[in-house]
Amino acid sequence: MKIQNICCIGAGYVGGPTMSVIAQKCPDIQITVVDVNAARIAAWNSEDFEKLPIYEPGLSDIVREARGRNLFFSTDVDTAIDRADMIFISVNTPTKTYGLGKGMASDLKYIELCARQIARVATTDKIVVEKSTLPVRTATAIKNILDNTGNPVQFQILSNPEFLAEGTAVADLFNPDRVLIGGEETADGQRAVRALVDIYARWVPAEKILTTNVWSSELSKLTANAFLAQRVSSINAISELCEKTGANITEVAQAIGMDSRIGSKFLKASVGFGGSCFQKDILNLVYIAKSYGLDEVADYWEQVIIMNNHQRQRFAHRIVKTLYNTVSDKKIAFLGWAFKKDTNDTRESAAIYVADYLLNEQALIQVFDPKVTAQQVYADLNYLNSRAEIDNEKSVQVHPCPYQTCQNVHAIAILTEWEEFNTYDWERIYQQMHKPAFVFDGRNVLDKAKLEKIGFIYAAIGR
Ligand code: NAD
Ligand code: UGA
Repeated sequence: MKIQNICCIGAGYVGGPTMSVIAQKCPDIQITVVDVNAARIAAWNSEDFEKLPIYEPGLSDIVREARGRNLFFSTDVDTAIDRADMIFISVNTPTKTYGLGKGMASDLKYIELCARQIARVATTDKIVVEKSTLPVRTATAIKNILDNTGNPVQFQILSNPEFLAEGTAVADLFNPDRVLIGGEETADGQRAVRALVDIYARWVPAEKILTTNVWSSELSKLTANAFLAQRVSSINAISELCEKTGANITEVAQAIGMDSRIGSKFLKASVGFGGSCFQKDILNLVYIAKSYGLDEVADYWEQVIIMNNHQRQRFAHRIVKTLYNTVSDKKIAFLGWAFKKDTNDTRESAAIYVADYLLNEQALIQVFDPKVTAQQVYADLNYLNSRAEIDNEKSVQVHPCPYQTCQNVHAIAILTEWEEFNTYDWERIYQQMHKPAFVFDGRNVLDKAKLEKIGFIYAAIGR
Protein backbone atom coordinates (compact mmCIF):
# COMPACT_ATOMS: atom_id res chain seq x y z
CA MET A 1 0.00 0.00 0.00
CA LYS A 2 1.57 3.28 -1.07
CA ILE A 3 0.67 6.41 0.82
CA GLN A 4 -0.06 9.40 -1.40
CA ASN A 5 -1.75 11.85 0.88
CA ILE A 6 -0.97 12.60 4.52
CA CYS A 7 -2.82 14.81 6.98
CA CYS A 8 -1.21 15.85 10.25
CA ILE A 9 -3.46 17.24 12.97
CA GLY A 10 -1.46 19.66 15.13
CA ALA A 11 1.04 22.18 13.73
CA GLY A 12 3.18 22.47 16.87
CA TYR A 13 6.77 21.66 17.81
CA VAL A 14 6.30 18.07 16.64
CA GLY A 15 3.79 18.28 13.78
CA GLY A 16 5.50 21.24 12.05
CA PRO A 17 9.11 20.00 11.88
CA THR A 18 8.20 16.30 11.43
CA MET A 19 5.92 16.91 8.47
CA SER A 20 8.34 19.43 6.93
CA VAL A 21 11.07 16.79 6.91
CA ILE A 22 8.77 14.04 5.55
CA ALA A 23 7.64 16.48 2.82
CA GLN A 24 11.21 17.30 1.92
CA LYS A 25 12.24 13.64 1.77
CA CYS A 26 9.09 12.46 -0.06
CA PRO A 27 8.20 15.08 -2.70
CA ASP A 28 5.65 12.70 -4.23
CA ILE A 29 3.49 12.64 -1.07
CA GLN A 30 1.04 15.51 -0.49
CA ILE A 31 1.16 16.61 3.14
CA THR A 32 -1.30 18.96 4.81
CA VAL A 33 -0.67 20.08 8.38
CA VAL A 34 -3.83 21.36 10.02
CA ASP A 35 -4.52 23.14 13.27
CA VAL A 36 -7.42 24.86 15.00
CA ASN A 37 -5.06 27.71 15.91
CA ALA A 38 -5.47 30.05 12.92
CA ALA A 39 -2.66 32.39 14.05
CA ARG A 40 -0.23 29.47 14.15
CA ILE A 41 -1.24 28.32 10.67
CA ALA A 42 -0.90 31.91 9.36
CA ALA A 43 2.61 32.03 10.83
CA TRP A 44 3.53 28.73 9.11
CA ASN A 45 2.29 30.32 5.86
CA SER A 46 4.19 33.56 6.46
CA GLU A 47 6.08 35.04 3.49
CA ASP A 48 8.86 35.95 5.92
CA PHE A 49 10.54 32.66 6.78
CA GLU A 50 12.02 34.23 9.92
CA LYS A 51 8.46 34.47 11.24
CA LEU A 52 7.64 30.76 11.32
CA PRO A 53 5.99 29.99 14.68
CA ILE A 54 8.79 27.70 15.78
CA TYR A 55 12.49 28.43 15.84
CA GLU A 56 14.62 25.41 15.01
CA PRO A 57 18.04 25.57 13.34
CA GLY A 58 17.65 24.57 9.65
CA LEU A 59 13.85 24.43 9.67
CA SER A 60 13.09 27.57 7.66
CA ASP A 61 15.16 26.30 4.69
CA ILE A 62 13.16 23.06 4.58
CA VAL A 63 9.82 24.88 4.77
CA ARG A 64 11.00 27.26 2.05
CA GLU A 65 11.78 24.27 -0.21
CA ALA A 66 8.65 22.17 0.39
CA ARG A 67 5.85 24.62 1.19
CA GLY A 68 3.48 25.08 -1.73
CA ARG A 69 5.04 22.08 -3.53
CA ASN A 70 3.83 19.16 -1.42
CA LEU A 71 3.63 20.75 2.04
CA PHE A 72 0.59 22.80 3.02
CA PHE A 73 -0.59 24.41 6.25
CA SER A 74 -4.33 24.89 6.68
CA THR A 75 -7.16 25.37 9.18
CA ASP A 76 -9.51 23.24 7.07
CA VAL A 77 -9.21 20.10 9.17
CA ASP A 78 -12.18 18.23 7.66
CA THR A 79 -10.98 18.47 4.05
CA ALA A 80 -7.46 17.35 4.96
CA ILE A 81 -8.80 14.36 6.92
CA ASP A 82 -11.11 13.32 4.11
CA ARG A 83 -8.38 13.40 1.45
CA ALA A 84 -5.72 11.57 3.48
CA ASP A 85 -4.72 7.89 3.40
CA MET A 86 -2.71 8.38 6.57
CA ILE A 87 -3.48 10.77 9.45
CA PHE A 88 -0.91 11.70 12.07
CA ILE A 89 -2.26 12.95 15.38
CA SER A 90 0.30 15.43 16.79
CA VAL A 91 -1.83 17.42 19.18
CA ASN A 92 -0.82 18.40 22.69
CA THR A 93 -1.33 16.01 25.62
CA PRO A 94 -0.69 18.23 28.67
CA THR A 95 -0.99 17.20 32.29
CA LYS A 96 -4.62 17.31 33.44
CA THR A 97 -5.49 20.42 35.43
CA TYR A 98 -8.90 19.22 36.64
CA GLY A 99 -10.87 16.21 37.81
CA LEU A 100 -9.62 12.66 38.21
CA GLY A 101 -5.85 12.45 37.76
CA LYS A 102 -5.45 16.24 38.14
CA GLY A 103 -1.75 17.19 38.17
CA MET A 104 -0.64 13.69 37.08
CA ALA A 105 -2.50 12.06 34.20
CA SER A 106 -2.24 13.26 30.60
CA ASP A 107 -5.24 15.18 29.38
CA LEU A 108 -6.44 13.23 26.35
CA LYS A 109 -9.33 15.50 25.41
CA TYR A 110 -7.59 16.81 22.28
CA ILE A 111 -6.76 13.25 21.20
CA GLU A 112 -10.37 12.20 21.66
CA LEU A 113 -11.61 15.23 19.73
CA CYS A 114 -9.33 14.28 16.83
CA ALA A 115 -10.60 10.69 16.88
CA ARG A 116 -14.21 11.87 16.87
CA GLN A 117 -13.53 14.31 14.04
CA ILE A 118 -11.83 11.59 11.96
CA ALA A 119 -14.75 9.26 12.67
CA ARG A 120 -17.25 11.89 11.59
CA VAL A 121 -15.48 13.00 8.42
CA ALA A 122 -13.77 9.90 6.96
CA THR A 123 -15.35 8.34 3.88
CA THR A 124 -12.39 6.10 2.92
CA ASP A 125 -10.12 3.72 4.84
CA LYS A 126 -7.41 5.43 6.92
CA ILE A 127 -4.26 4.61 8.82
CA VAL A 128 -4.28 6.72 11.99
CA VAL A 129 -0.85 7.31 13.51
CA GLU A 130 -0.36 8.33 17.13
CA LYS A 131 2.51 10.80 16.95
CA SER A 132 1.66 12.52 20.23
CA THR A 133 3.06 10.96 23.40
CA LEU A 134 0.27 8.90 24.92
CA PRO A 135 -0.35 6.67 27.93
CA VAL A 136 0.06 2.99 27.19
CA ARG A 137 -3.19 1.50 25.82
CA THR A 138 -4.55 4.77 24.41
CA ALA A 139 -4.83 3.13 20.99
CA THR A 140 -7.72 1.06 22.37
CA ALA A 141 -9.72 4.20 23.15
CA ILE A 142 -9.01 5.69 19.72
CA LYS A 143 -9.98 2.45 18.02
CA ASN A 144 -13.22 2.21 20.00
CA ILE A 145 -14.26 5.66 18.85
CA LEU A 146 -13.27 5.02 15.23
CA ASP A 147 -14.86 1.57 15.03
CA ASN A 148 -18.25 2.72 16.28
CA THR A 149 -19.10 5.27 13.63
CA GLY A 150 -21.75 3.13 11.96
CA ASN A 151 -20.11 3.50 8.52
CA PRO A 152 -18.02 0.82 6.81
CA VAL A 153 -14.70 2.73 6.80
CA GLN A 154 -11.74 0.64 8.10
CA PHE A 155 -9.16 2.17 10.45
CA GLN A 156 -5.75 0.90 11.47
CA ILE A 157 -4.07 2.53 14.47
CA LEU A 158 -0.29 2.79 14.63
CA SER A 159 1.90 4.16 17.39
CA ASN A 160 4.87 6.15 16.07
CA PRO A 161 6.19 8.25 18.96
CA GLU A 162 8.54 11.09 18.19
CA PHE A 163 11.96 11.24 19.86
CA LEU A 164 13.22 14.58 18.49
CA ALA A 165 14.58 17.09 20.98
CA GLU A 166 13.90 20.78 20.54
CA GLY A 167 16.84 22.82 19.31
CA THR A 168 18.09 19.82 17.30
CA ALA A 169 14.76 18.78 15.78
CA VAL A 170 15.88 18.88 12.15
CA ALA A 171 19.13 17.00 12.79
CA ASP A 172 17.25 14.43 14.91
CA LEU A 173 14.64 13.91 12.19
CA PHE A 174 17.26 13.58 9.44
CA ASN A 175 19.34 11.16 11.45
CA PRO A 176 17.27 9.50 14.19
CA ASP A 177 18.77 6.95 16.60
CA ARG A 178 15.70 4.89 15.79
CA VAL A 179 12.19 5.18 14.40
CA LEU A 180 9.66 3.21 16.41
CA ILE A 181 6.45 1.91 14.86
CA GLY A 182 3.94 -0.15 16.78
CA GLY A 183 1.03 -1.88 15.07
CA GLU A 184 -1.53 -4.60 15.48
CA GLU A 185 -0.19 -8.11 15.00
CA THR A 186 -2.82 -8.91 12.33
CA ALA A 187 -2.32 -8.99 8.55
CA ASP A 188 -4.05 -5.61 8.17
CA GLY A 189 -2.06 -4.19 11.08
CA GLN A 190 1.22 -5.33 9.55
CA ARG A 191 0.25 -3.87 6.15
CA ALA A 192 -0.27 -0.52 7.85
CA VAL A 193 3.07 -0.82 9.65
CA ARG A 194 4.79 -1.50 6.31
CA ALA A 195 3.16 1.56 4.72
CA LEU A 196 4.70 3.78 7.39
CA VAL A 197 8.04 1.92 7.34
CA ASP A 198 8.20 2.62 3.59
CA ILE A 199 7.94 6.37 4.22
CA TYR A 200 10.79 6.49 6.76
CA ALA A 201 12.86 4.05 4.70
CA ARG A 202 13.34 6.83 2.11
CA TRP A 203 16.06 8.27 4.37
CA VAL A 204 16.40 6.17 7.53
CA PRO A 205 18.52 2.96 7.31
CA ALA A 206 16.36 -0.19 7.66
CA GLU A 207 18.17 -1.38 10.80
CA LYS A 208 17.10 1.80 12.60
CA ILE A 209 13.40 1.25 11.95
CA LEU A 210 12.05 -0.80 14.80
CA THR A 211 8.60 -2.38 14.65
CA THR A 212 6.82 -3.62 17.79
CA ASN A 213 3.34 -4.18 19.10
CA VAL A 214 1.31 -1.04 19.85
CA TRP A 215 1.66 -1.23 23.64
CA SER A 216 5.46 -1.62 23.59
CA SER A 217 5.71 1.40 21.32
CA GLU A 218 3.45 3.58 23.50
CA LEU A 219 5.23 2.56 26.70
CA SER A 220 8.73 2.93 25.21
CA LYS A 221 8.18 6.62 24.58
CA LEU A 222 7.26 7.36 28.21
CA THR A 223 10.12 5.16 29.38
CA ALA A 224 12.70 6.88 27.16
CA ASN A 225 11.79 10.29 28.56
CA ALA A 226 11.77 8.95 32.11
CA PHE A 227 15.28 7.48 31.67
CA LEU A 228 16.62 10.72 30.16
CA ALA A 229 15.14 12.88 32.90
CA GLN A 230 16.37 10.42 35.51
CA ARG A 231 19.95 10.97 34.34
CA VAL A 232 19.57 14.72 34.77
CA SER A 233 18.09 14.32 38.26
CA SER A 234 20.82 11.84 39.16
CA ILE A 235 23.64 14.19 38.20
CA ASN A 236 21.81 17.11 39.82
CA ALA A 237 21.55 15.16 43.08
CA ILE A 238 25.30 14.65 43.00
CA SER A 239 25.83 18.37 42.19
CA GLU A 240 24.45 19.29 45.61
CA LEU A 241 26.87 16.90 47.24
CA CYS A 242 29.70 18.44 45.20
CA GLU A 243 28.87 21.90 46.54
CA LYS A 244 29.22 20.57 50.10
CA THR A 245 32.40 18.58 49.59
CA GLY A 246 34.60 20.49 47.15
CA ALA A 247 34.18 17.91 44.39
CA ASN A 248 33.53 19.47 40.97
CA ILE A 249 30.43 18.19 39.12
CA THR A 250 31.97 18.72 35.69
CA GLU A 251 34.92 16.54 36.65
CA VAL A 252 32.68 13.92 38.25
CA ALA A 253 30.44 13.81 35.15
CA GLN A 254 33.45 13.37 32.90
CA ALA A 255 34.86 10.64 35.08
CA ILE A 256 31.68 8.59 35.24
CA GLY A 257 30.64 9.31 31.63
CA MET A 258 33.83 7.69 30.32
CA ASP A 259 32.52 4.37 31.57
CA SER A 260 31.03 3.03 28.36
CA ARG A 261 28.22 1.42 30.34
CA ILE A 262 27.17 4.85 31.61
CA GLY A 263 28.02 7.03 28.59
CA SER A 264 28.74 10.74 28.47
CA LYS A 265 25.43 12.18 27.22
CA PHE A 266 22.79 13.74 29.46
CA LEU A 267 25.16 14.21 32.37
CA LYS A 268 25.15 18.01 32.46
CA ALA A 269 24.20 19.29 35.88
CA SER A 270 21.79 22.18 35.59
CA VAL A 271 19.29 24.35 37.36
CA GLY A 272 16.79 21.63 36.49
CA PHE A 273 15.28 20.12 33.39
CA GLY A 274 12.41 21.93 31.71
CA GLY A 275 10.47 21.49 28.50
CA SER A 276 6.95 20.43 27.79
CA CYS A 277 7.51 16.71 28.14
CA PHE A 278 9.84 15.32 30.82
CA GLN A 279 7.71 16.35 33.77
CA LYS A 280 4.41 15.62 32.03
CA ASP A 281 5.51 12.19 30.83
CA ILE A 282 6.98 11.09 34.16
CA LEU A 283 3.85 12.26 36.00
CA ASN A 284 1.86 10.23 33.52
CA LEU A 285 4.06 7.18 34.08
CA VAL A 286 3.63 7.58 37.84
CA TYR A 287 -0.13 7.86 37.40
CA ILE A 288 -0.29 4.75 35.21
CA ALA A 289 1.81 2.74 37.70
CA LYS A 290 -0.43 3.88 40.56
CA SER A 291 -3.55 3.00 38.63
CA TYR A 292 -2.26 -0.59 38.36
CA GLY A 293 -1.50 -0.57 42.11
CA LEU A 294 2.28 -0.49 41.53
CA ASP A 295 3.11 1.95 44.32
CA GLU A 296 6.84 1.19 44.52
CA VAL A 297 7.21 1.72 40.77
CA ALA A 298 5.29 5.00 41.03
CA ASP A 299 7.38 6.25 43.98
CA TYR A 300 10.61 5.35 42.23
CA TRP A 301 9.87 7.54 39.21
CA GLU A 302 8.23 10.33 41.17
CA GLN A 303 11.55 10.93 42.89
CA VAL A 304 12.95 12.21 39.55
CA ILE A 305 10.42 15.06 39.67
CA ILE A 306 10.95 15.74 43.37
CA MET A 307 14.69 16.10 42.74
CA ASN A 308 14.07 18.47 39.83
CA ASN A 309 11.80 20.73 41.89
CA HIS A 310 14.41 20.75 44.64
CA GLN A 311 17.19 21.70 42.21
CA ARG A 312 15.30 24.75 40.89
CA GLN A 313 14.43 25.86 44.38
CA ARG A 314 17.85 25.43 45.87
CA PHE A 315 19.42 27.45 43.02
CA ALA A 316 17.09 30.35 43.81
CA HIS A 317 17.70 29.90 47.52
CA ARG A 318 21.46 30.00 47.00
CA ILE A 319 21.12 33.36 45.25
CA VAL A 320 19.20 34.82 48.18
CA LYS A 321 21.57 33.35 50.75
CA THR A 322 24.66 34.62 48.95
CA LEU A 323 23.23 38.11 48.52
CA TYR A 324 23.33 38.51 52.31
CA ASN A 325 19.98 36.79 52.85
CA THR A 326 17.92 39.44 51.12
CA VAL A 327 17.12 40.29 47.52
CA SER A 328 14.35 42.71 48.35
CA ASP A 329 14.46 45.57 45.80
CA LYS A 330 17.72 44.22 44.36
CA LYS A 331 17.94 43.87 40.60
CA ILE A 332 18.89 40.44 39.31
CA ALA A 333 19.63 39.83 35.63
CA PHE A 334 18.43 36.60 34.03
CA LEU A 335 20.43 35.60 30.97
CA GLY A 336 18.27 33.02 29.23
CA TRP A 337 14.60 32.20 29.65
CA ALA A 338 14.09 29.29 27.18
CA PHE A 339 14.18 25.79 28.71
CA LYS A 340 17.33 25.00 26.68
CA LYS A 341 19.45 26.65 24.00
CA ASP A 342 18.47 26.94 20.32
CA THR A 343 14.73 27.05 20.95
CA ASN A 344 12.17 29.75 21.66
CA ASP A 345 10.15 27.28 23.74
CA THR A 346 9.79 28.24 27.41
CA ARG A 347 7.39 25.56 28.61
CA GLU A 348 8.32 24.42 32.14
CA SER A 349 11.61 26.33 31.89
CA ALA A 350 13.53 26.43 35.18
CA ALA A 351 13.81 30.21 34.65
CA ILE A 352 10.09 30.63 35.38
CA TYR A 353 10.32 28.84 38.72
CA VAL A 354 13.52 30.60 39.80
CA ALA A 355 11.96 33.96 38.88
CA ASP A 356 8.83 33.11 40.82
CA TYR A 357 10.85 32.25 43.91
CA LEU A 358 12.89 35.47 43.70
CA LEU A 359 9.81 37.61 43.07
CA ASN A 360 8.35 36.20 46.27
CA GLU A 361 11.50 37.54 47.93
CA GLN A 362 10.67 40.96 46.38
CA ALA A 363 13.53 40.93 43.88
CA LEU A 364 13.38 42.96 40.65
CA ILE A 365 14.18 40.86 37.61
CA GLN A 366 15.72 41.92 34.29
CA VAL A 367 15.46 39.32 31.53
CA PHE A 368 17.31 38.78 28.27
CA ASP A 369 16.88 35.78 25.98
CA PRO A 370 18.00 35.80 22.33
CA LYS A 371 14.79 34.10 21.11
CA VAL A 372 12.05 34.67 23.67
CA THR A 373 9.67 37.64 23.48
CA ALA A 374 8.70 39.87 26.42
CA GLN A 375 5.09 38.84 25.87
CA GLN A 376 6.07 35.19 26.44
CA VAL A 377 7.98 35.96 29.64
CA TYR A 378 4.96 37.74 31.14
CA ALA A 379 2.60 35.00 29.94
CA ASP A 380 4.77 32.38 31.69
CA LEU A 381 4.86 34.31 34.96
CA ASN A 382 1.17 35.11 34.91
CA TYR A 383 0.39 31.46 34.21
CA LEU A 384 2.31 30.32 37.26
CA ASN A 385 0.95 33.26 39.22
CA SER A 386 1.78 32.15 42.74
CA ARG A 387 1.90 35.83 43.77
CA ALA A 388 -1.43 37.53 43.24
CA GLU A 389 -0.10 40.59 45.08
CA ILE A 390 2.95 41.13 42.82
CA ASP A 391 2.59 43.03 39.60
CA ASN A 392 4.85 41.20 37.13
CA GLU A 393 4.89 44.16 34.75
CA LYS A 394 6.49 46.29 37.47
CA SER A 395 8.86 43.74 38.98
CA VAL A 396 10.07 42.16 35.75
CA GLN A 397 11.57 43.92 32.76
CA VAL A 398 12.52 42.25 29.51
CA HIS A 399 15.30 43.82 27.43
CA PRO A 400 16.43 43.35 23.84
CA CYS A 401 20.14 43.56 24.75
CA PRO A 402 22.27 41.79 27.39
CA TYR A 403 24.23 44.90 28.36
CA GLN A 404 21.07 46.86 29.11
CA THR A 405 19.81 43.87 31.09
CA CYS A 406 22.87 43.77 33.33
CA GLN A 407 22.97 47.53 34.02
CA ASN A 408 22.94 48.26 37.79
CA VAL A 409 22.15 44.71 38.81
CA HIS A 410 23.52 43.04 41.94
CA ALA A 411 23.76 39.60 40.38
CA ILE A 412 23.46 37.73 37.10
CA ALA A 413 21.83 34.30 36.87
CA ILE A 414 22.45 32.10 33.83
CA LEU A 415 19.29 30.09 33.15
CA THR A 416 19.82 28.84 29.58
CA GLU A 417 23.04 27.59 27.99
CA TRP A 418 22.98 29.94 24.96
CA GLU A 419 26.48 29.83 23.48
CA GLU A 420 26.54 33.56 22.77
CA PHE A 421 26.79 34.27 26.52
CA ASN A 422 30.46 33.32 26.36
CA THR A 423 31.15 35.90 23.67
CA TYR A 424 29.92 38.89 25.71
CA ASP A 425 32.23 41.64 26.88
CA TRP A 426 32.24 40.59 30.55
CA GLU A 427 34.60 43.46 31.49
CA ARG A 428 31.95 45.89 30.30
CA ILE A 429 29.19 44.02 32.15
CA TYR A 430 31.29 44.07 35.34
CA GLN A 431 31.76 47.84 35.13
CA GLN A 432 27.97 48.37 34.98
CA MET A 433 27.09 46.27 38.04
CA HIS A 434 26.82 46.89 41.78
CA LYS A 435 29.81 45.50 43.65
CA PRO A 436 30.49 42.87 44.74
CA ALA A 437 29.27 41.54 41.39
CA PHE A 438 27.88 37.99 41.52
CA VAL A 439 27.33 35.47 38.74
CA PHE A 440 25.22 32.36 39.44
CA ASP A 441 25.81 29.99 36.57
CA GLY A 442 22.86 27.58 36.47
CA ARG A 443 24.25 25.87 33.38
CA ASN A 444 28.01 25.72 33.96
CA VAL A 445 28.62 27.54 30.69
CA LEU A 446 30.83 30.47 31.61
CA ASP A 447 34.60 30.50 32.10
CA LYS A 448 35.05 30.63 35.87
CA ALA A 449 38.74 31.64 35.76
CA LYS A 450 38.08 34.46 33.30
CA LEU A 451 35.20 35.87 35.34
CA GLU A 452 37.05 35.66 38.63
CA LYS A 453 40.02 37.45 37.07
CA ILE A 454 37.73 40.32 36.11
CA GLY A 455 36.47 40.51 39.70
CA PHE A 456 33.18 38.61 39.68
CA ILE A 457 32.20 36.31 42.50
CA TYR A 458 31.29 33.20 40.57
CA ALA A 459 29.10 30.32 41.76
CA ALA A 460 27.91 27.46 39.57
CA ILE A 461 25.79 24.36 39.99
CA GLY A 462 27.90 21.63 41.54
CA ARG A 463 30.96 23.84 42.01
P1 NAD B 1 2.15 21.91 20.64
O1 NAD B 1 1.28 22.45 21.73
O2 NAD B 1 3.32 22.72 20.18
O3 NAD B 1 1.23 21.63 19.34
C1 NAD B 1 0.02 20.97 19.39
C2 NAD B 1 -0.93 21.66 18.39
O4 NAD B 1 -2.11 20.88 18.28
C3 NAD B 1 -1.39 23.06 18.83
O5 NAD B 1 -1.00 24.01 17.84
C4 NAD B 1 -2.92 22.94 18.95
O6 NAD B 1 -3.61 24.09 18.53
C5 NAD B 1 -3.21 21.76 18.03
N1 NAD B 1 -4.47 21.10 18.32
C6 NAD B 1 -4.95 20.66 19.52
N2 NAD B 1 -6.13 20.06 19.36
C7 NAD B 1 -6.44 20.11 18.04
C8 NAD B 1 -7.54 19.64 17.26
N3 NAD B 1 -8.54 18.97 17.82
N4 NAD B 1 -7.52 19.88 15.93
C9 NAD B 1 -6.50 20.54 15.37
N5 NAD B 1 -5.42 21.00 16.05
C10 NAD B 1 -5.40 20.78 17.37
O7 NAD B 1 2.61 20.47 21.12
P2 NAD B 1 3.95 19.69 20.69
O8 NAD B 1 5.11 20.17 21.49
O9 NAD B 1 4.05 19.66 19.21
O10 NAD B 1 3.62 18.23 21.25
C11 NAD B 1 2.64 17.43 20.63
C12 NAD B 1 2.77 16.00 21.16
O11 NAD B 1 4.06 15.48 20.83
C13 NAD B 1 2.67 15.88 22.68
O12 NAD B 1 2.02 14.68 22.99
C14 NAD B 1 4.11 15.80 23.13
O13 NAD B 1 4.25 15.09 24.34
C15 NAD B 1 4.76 15.05 22.00
N6 NAD B 1 6.19 15.31 21.81
C16 NAD B 1 6.69 16.59 21.88
C17 NAD B 1 8.04 16.82 21.64
C18 NAD B 1 8.63 18.21 21.71
O14 NAD B 1 9.83 18.32 21.59
N7 NAD B 1 7.84 19.26 21.86
C19 NAD B 1 8.87 15.76 21.27
C20 NAD B 1 8.33 14.49 21.19
C21 NAD B 1 6.99 14.28 21.45
C1 UGA C 1 13.27 15.54 25.28
C2 UGA C 1 13.94 14.27 24.77
O1 UGA C 1 15.35 14.49 24.72
C3 UGA C 1 13.42 13.90 23.38
O2 UGA C 1 13.99 12.67 22.98
C4 UGA C 1 11.90 13.76 23.44
O3 UGA C 1 11.39 13.49 22.16
C5 UGA C 1 11.30 15.05 23.95
O4 UGA C 1 11.85 15.35 25.26
C6 UGA C 1 9.82 15.00 24.12
O5 UGA C 1 9.26 13.94 24.25
O6 UGA C 1 9.29 16.10 24.18
P1 UGA C 1 13.54 18.14 24.86
O7 UGA C 1 12.70 18.27 26.08
O8 UGA C 1 13.16 18.90 23.65
O9 UGA C 1 13.63 16.61 24.42
O10 UGA C 1 15.03 18.56 25.21
P2 UGA C 1 16.23 17.83 26.01
O11 UGA C 1 17.46 18.04 25.23
O12 UGA C 1 15.91 16.44 26.35
O13 UGA C 1 16.32 18.68 27.33
C7 UGA C 1 15.32 18.63 28.31
C8 UGA C 1 15.77 19.43 29.53
O14 UGA C 1 16.83 18.75 30.21
C9 UGA C 1 16.32 20.81 29.18
O15 UGA C 1 15.89 21.76 30.12
C10 UGA C 1 17.82 20.61 29.26
O16 UGA C 1 18.51 21.79 29.55
C11 UGA C 1 17.91 19.63 30.40
N1 UGA C 1 19.17 18.84 30.39
C12 UGA C 1 19.44 18.00 29.36
C13 UGA C 1 20.06 18.96 31.44
O17 UGA C 1 19.83 19.73 32.39
N2 UGA C 1 21.22 18.24 31.42
C14 UGA C 1 21.51 17.38 30.40
O18 UGA C 1 22.59 16.74 30.45
C15 UGA C 1 20.61 17.27 29.35
